[in-house]
Amino acid sequence: LDVAQQSSTGALPPGRRVDELVTAAHARYASDDSGVVADYIPVLGQADPSWFGLSVVGVDGGVHEAGDTGIPFTIQSISKAFVFALACQAIGHERVHERVGVNNTGLAFNSVIAVELNAGSPMNPMVNPGAIATTALLPAATSDERWAVVCDGLSRFAGRPLELDDEVYRSESETNHRNRAIAQLLHSYGRLDADADETVDVYTRQCALAVDAHDLAVMGATLADGGVNPLTGEQVVPAEVCRDTLAVLASCGMYERSGEWLFEIGLPAKSGVSGGIVAVSPGKGAVGAFSPRLDAAGNSVRGQRACAYLSRALGLNLF
Ligand code: DON
Repeated sequence: LDVAQQSSTGALPPGRRVDELVTAAHARYASDDSGVVADYIPVLGQADPSWFGLSVVGVDGGVHEAGDTGIPFTIQSISKAFVFALACQAIGHERVHERVGVNNTGLAFNSVIAVELNAGSPMNPMVNPGAIATTALLPAATSDERWAVVCDGLSRFAGRPLELDDEVYRSESETNHRNRAIAQLLHSYGRLDADADETVDVYTRQCALAVDAHDLAVMGATLADGGVNPLTGEQVVPAEVCRDTLAVLASCGMYERSGEWLFEIGLPAKSGVSGGIVAVSPGKGAVGAFSPRLDAAGNSVRGQRACAYLSRALGLNLF
């Protein structure tokens, strides 16, 4: 990448400089047409492949944006990061570790074999089996209550009430046989702490919450800021929960490409199949990126390239 790695010590550069670099990152990758839009959830295939938004939100509350940062899309797998944080807050580090695990499986996000290979342990909270098991850990007496905990928690990370995209929820509900099978398999191993079908329904809803690139940056900046949302000032989760969550994102957030991502970009991050990426620089802020064309692992192509550029140009890399 022909951009100098800035020093990672200290704060973000001055606001005007961050604005310029976000605009430059957008211009640099806006015409990159590599990758394909996901269509295994039928409605996602209708996304416009040209959409591209970049948002950087600092822990100081500064907002720096370029492109389509207000286009709504479903959060999909990025929800896994924030539901994981809610589960750590609710039942603690030890129990999440024991019931779900915190290691990368090295296999695809919807792999059934990963569960079988690990004697029924979901292993990785950032792929579907582990995320379904994590949603089942949230304390709730009913499925409606579980959904309310998720929706309210993710809304507090975003600093505004998030809403369900009903069309995507219905489209995925009609076609999510594989996730239902994964939940039944976890149940057969005694690894699911709630009803399998009901948990998949809440998981499918959490994935269908509508956000935009700006929301992702605010949600990520809350993790960067020790759990305090830098725009609303609310302490959404304790600082130790942010540490737990960012550690898992570093090892598992970009699926089977997590090692390469950490090597090249050096930030805890999470991607989703509708084309979103959130990348978090603790103590500094976060990048929210959105562009629907994905690579083979399911990560947004322009989003990854823009994060790589911004990580170097803004000095975000942890290492
Ligand atoms: O469960 C699924 O397949 C989707 N709701 C989410 C998958 C996802 O975002 C994986 N991403 N790259």
